[in-house]
Amino acid sequence: MNKLRPVILDGDPGHDDAIAWMLAKASPMLDIRAVTSVCGNQTIEKTTCNAQRVCTLLGIRAPVAMGKPAPLLARPMNAPSVHGQSGLDGPVLPEPNAPLSPLRSVALMAKVLRESETPVTIVPTGPLTNVAALLLAHPELKPKIETISLMGGGITHGNWTPAAEFNILVDPEAAKTVFESGVPIIMSGLDVTERALLFPADFERIRRVGNRVAHVVADWLEFFYGFHRELGYAGAPVHDPVAVVSLVRPDLLTSRPLCVEIETRGEYCRGATVGHDRAPANALVNFDIDRGGFADLLVEAVGTYGEE
Ligand code: BDR
Ligand code: CA
Repeated sequence: MNKLRPVILDGDPGHDDAIAWMLAKASPMLDIRAVTSVCGNQTIEKTTCNAQRVCTLLGIRAPVAMGKPAPLLARPMNAPSVHGQSGLDGPVLPEPNAPLSPLRSVALMAKVLRESETPVTIVPTGPLTNVAALLLAHPELKPKIETISLMGGGITHGNWTPAAEFNILVDPEAAKTVFESGVPIIMSGLDVTERALLFPADFERIRRVGNRVAHVVADWLEFFYGFHRELGYAGAPVHDPVAVVSLVRPDLLTSRPLCVEIETRGEYCRGATVGHDRAPANALVNFDIDRGGFADLLVEAVGTYGEE
């Protein structure tokens, strides 16, 4: 298989993070060089253990490193109402047999960047703490980062507050560091990810693929939808995989370059991603997705896994 684009997956699994990683592992276009956990949906201990379990399930052999235990400045904040007490409640997962790297996330990311012949794409699907810490500690490695394709923010609205989306709200100072870094950014915020809706009929299509990963992904989606159904959603907004879709099927997305600035001080708007064109663009912002094509892509992706 011709693996082309080296990537680092950085997230806080998390049901939709795990589905993003499933999509990344299934793509012949991506070469996963490292997986790093971050504190967000749950504590760093829990998201790290979940990262190991997900890598075991998916057969991801890249090193897994524990990330930062807390945001750069803010107090940690978790989302058990969305992802459960484990951070990945629902189906029983394999024991976490993927070994933990002796390196922490920043050291592992730096090593991967240094050793890669071609620039590496980072795919953050949680708070941006690890990525910001990397950029602050190793500014000399910026040219080794091709793109940061992230899930976070929302130009028109938030979800954790009216103005802020969870990943950005957890660590706005980190987000500001990343958006001001000069590294090319693809932003998949709520504008697009709330259109990446999967309905119960889609869960069943995925389940019918029939292998173990298909059953687990369908169970994850049902669990994730449970929370959103209570809020009045007709389907599950499958946020994090859109950051991977941006790399493997950009044709499914509608986007536009914008200057995105992070509000770090607002009394009501801390963590807002303010998009405008009064200054040069620093991000390609996704606004829409071909929902049917997205569902088909996930069905196809689970189909690449075997029975084990
Ligand atoms: C983001 O918050 C988390 O709960 C999800 O995993 C996703 O990354 C959506 O706001
Ligand atoms: Ca996430």
